[in-house]
Amino acid sequence: MSFDFITPVERKNTASLKWQRYEQQDVLPMWVADMDLTSPPAVQQALKAAVERGVFGYGEVPAKLNQAFIEWCASQYAWLVEEDWLVWIPGVVPGFNLAVEAWLTAEQGLLVQSPVYTPIRVLGKLRQRPSIDLPMSEPIIKENLAAHLKPETQALVLCNPQNPLGKVYSRVELEEIAALAEAEDLLVIADEIWSDLLLEPDLRHVPFASVSQAAAQRSVTLMAPSKTFNIAGMSCAVAVIPNPELRASYREAMRGLMPDMNYLGLVAAQAAWQEGHAWLAALKVHLNANLDLLENWLKDFPQIGYQRPQATFVAWLDVSALLLADPVDAFLKGGVALSAGEAYGQASHVRLNFGCTAEQLKQALQRMAAVIQANN
Ligand SMILES: Cc1ncc(COP(=O)(O)O)c(C=O)c1O
Repeated sequence: MSFDFITPVERKNTASLKWQRYEQQDVLPMWVADMDLTSPPAVQQALKAAVERGVFGYGEVPAKLNQAFIEWCASQYAWLVEEDWLVWIPGVVPGFNLAVEAWLTAEQGLLVQSPVYTPIRVLGKLRQRPSIDLPMSEPIIKENLAAHLKPETQALVLCNPQNPLGKVYSRVELEEIAALAEAEDLLVIADEIWSDLLLEPDLRHVPFASVSQAAAQRSVTLMAPSKTFNIAGMSCAVAVIPNPELRASYREAMRGLMPDMNYLGLVAAQAAWQEGHAWLAALKVHLNANLDLLENWLKDFPQIGYQRPQATFVAWLDVSALLLADPVDAFLKGGVALSAGEAYGQASHVRLNFGCTAEQLKQALQRMAAVIQANN
């Protein structure tokens, strides 16, 4: 079966976060991480059927959705998840904020590694907990932890696959992190929202909680169908918490604060996990082709620092050698909206979202080339 990653979709004036910001300008938005591609046909059909019923009352997670997620974890990551472990939540960001509220006292702190997705980088500040930022260039190994860890540090936040670097952690790395978490008695908050978008054909995602019983018992794994199937606007995610005490306190912290699950989100997620396999395989081929386009373009600009991401649909570009006073502003004036590296903790970089049609990416790269040439 073939899927359409070519036909452009008009997203201006559709209440889209990505497109609304620059609606009045001739700007291609290549920033926030959703894709300018339609969701799998099966997802669209399930949503159409729900919309046609015309009733949008309170939703409740159906057993079939739990089953679809459990089967997805088994088939994609060889991870055997039990139904009891699942706590459905409206998003991964609220999911890790909640973990901090539920499990850390006001004095207890956390460790993050930047550059990283902004809501992770600012998590300590937002939740008013002491936070340590260990650079991504210093991996979580015994010596680095010993040098940075403080007595009040209670939790590690792991972003795997990593946004914005596109790094995928190996089983060996995760086993080492799990051993250190055990030795230091740390909880692990694992944001694995990108777990399905591994672009190297031979790479497999390893959930942190799957490396050992002990890792499972001291962690929450946050997953969602949102990045994978381009349904981020549907507010559907899941926290997998194998430890019953941690799960109970997490649920307790949710009371009165977390909204009910979005009805259409439940419908979309179930269809995606049940029927999205072939579409996802085709999407990865498309994303790899876009990366090839980008790399071809980069041959003309060897001064831009870049490593092919192992996962995600974002590329992390070191543009410092271009000597632009404000790269994001310069590219915006040239008609391309990128994410500022500063927000992730590294001002030398910009982040380019390549989850779009090849044509849109080519146009954006042409515009970026013009900006670079004009500033030479
Ligand atoms: C690492 C990471 N976590 C979480 C999110 C967003 O999660 P949600 O929309 O489910 O809150 C993103 C979105 O880009 C992300 O990159």
